[in-house]
Amino acid sequence: MPEYAYEPGRGLPLDPAPDQAADLLAHASRLVVDSLSDVGDRPYGAPPLDDAFVAALLDDRPGAAQPADQALATLMRAAAQGQESRSGGHLAYIPGSGLLTAAVGDLLATVANRYTGVSEASPGAVALEAGVLRWLCELFGLPEGAQAVFLSGGSMANLTALVAAREHHAPGQPQRATVYVGEQAHASVRKAARTIGILPAHVRVCPSLDGVRLDTAALRVLIKQDRHDGLLPTAVVAAAGTTNTGAVDDLAVLADLAADLGVWLHVDGAYGGFFQLTERGRRRLAGIERADSITLDPHKSLFLPFGTGALVVRDRQTLVDAFGEEADYLRDLTGSPALPDFAELTPELTRDWRGARVWFALKTHGLQPFIDALDGALDLAAWAHDELAAIPGVTTCGPPDLSIVGFRIAGDDAAQDAVLGHVNGGGRAWLSSTQLDGQVVIRLAVLSHRTRRDHVAHVIDRVREFVAGSG
Ligand SMILES: Cc1ncc(COP(=O)(O)O)c(C=O)c1O
Repeated sequence: MPEYAYEPGRGLPLDPAPDQAADLLAHASRLVVDSLSDVGDRPYGAPPLDDAFVAALLDDRPGAAQPADQALATLMRAAAQGQESRSGGHLAYIPGSGLLTAAVGDLLATVANRYTGVSEASPGAVALEAGVLRWLCELFGLPEGAQAVFLSGGSMANLTALVAAREHHAPGQPQRATVYVGEQAHASVRKAARTIGILPAHVRVCPSLDGVRLDTAALRVLIKQDRHDGLLPTAVVAAAGTTNTGAVDDLAVLADLAADLGVWLHVDGAYGGFFQLTERGRRRLAGIERADSITLDPHKSLFLPFGTGALVVRDRQTLVDAFGEEADYLRDLTGSPALPDFAELTPELTRDWRGARVWFALKTHGLQPFIDALDGALDLAAWAHDELAAIPGVTTCGPPDLSIVGFRIAGDDAAQDAVLGHVNGGGRAWLSSTQLDGQVVIRLAVLSHRTRRDHVAHVIDRVREFVAGSG
């Protein structure tokens, strides 16, 4: 690595001169390329934490300028602590793999520093983002008048959707609003409800039919009872892939119910939504096109870097009703009728030009590699399920709806922790666990575009090995 020292002070104090800028970028780009070599095969498991380094970071304060190569090295070293989320062996939690192309789009967008809260300020940037957002609405078959927005992640998308639902069905009366979630709903839904003033007791956790999917008959009774009791049933939150096992609610039946009872249907597709790009996914998510809103997380199932979530709503006006505000100091900006003003559609005013990273990644790769990667994840999960189910003593949570397989080996919870430790100890692939019905369940989540069959085969071999050894 050639030595590189950025000397501030030539040019403007905070702006490098052109040759310095070129050197800085060249140096950073070498680090980026190095950091990606063999990333798919790196261990995901955390190496021992460099405690002294972490302590030094906590004590670090801005002061005198430091040569940029040193600062870049510190940045890379900080990133290297902990789990390698980009690894193809990352089969734990919900994998998020990251794409270089998106980072490049982001770099250009950040350098351009366009103001995308109001379209008049940056019509080109907003149009570029709005095109991708329209594609999202079309992907889910939503009618004219639908609108999508990019947010920081699934949690913010769920929150934004619940605000829109609350304003629609319980305007000014959050204390009377009720929200209906499944037993496996993501914690961000409860957090969002609490944050927007819905009482925790009014977040009804509905019974499920098979431990995972919302029991729509029970849900109907609950909603009617709440209305009878003077409450304002506001939103049903369905899952297009739960975090625990990837289970998909019966979205078509829930859409009927929501229409019939006059409540908002929000579909949390943070993990599973982009399987809509595949034929099998479309079959499994049937009914999603009737939702009032859908959470998507491009930083999960579109492999983009963290910080990229999305919300799609059926009726743009519901977002304007929830978030539109006048501001005297913005009176000079009038906007363009053909372009969205993101500031009136979300809680944010000033925001990064998030769409650039999504657009650039989709443009430079084309759509097909994304579809292939998602199809590959479905294939691998289906295969893993069948292999695991064939191991004596292994019980699965059933064939996966999408790409997460839940299973237990014979024995108590300690046995599950032991098999998890054995798999992860192999050093090539990493799983995590959860609890279902009070029991520990091991999860294998295929979502990284870097996960190959041999990563998954390694897991299956390790489980087989453990079961044979402990039998
Ligand atoms: C189903 C589901 N919903 C919501 C979220 C929250 O998304 P984020 O972590 O992007 O805020 C997650 C995250 O794993 C999820 O799996």
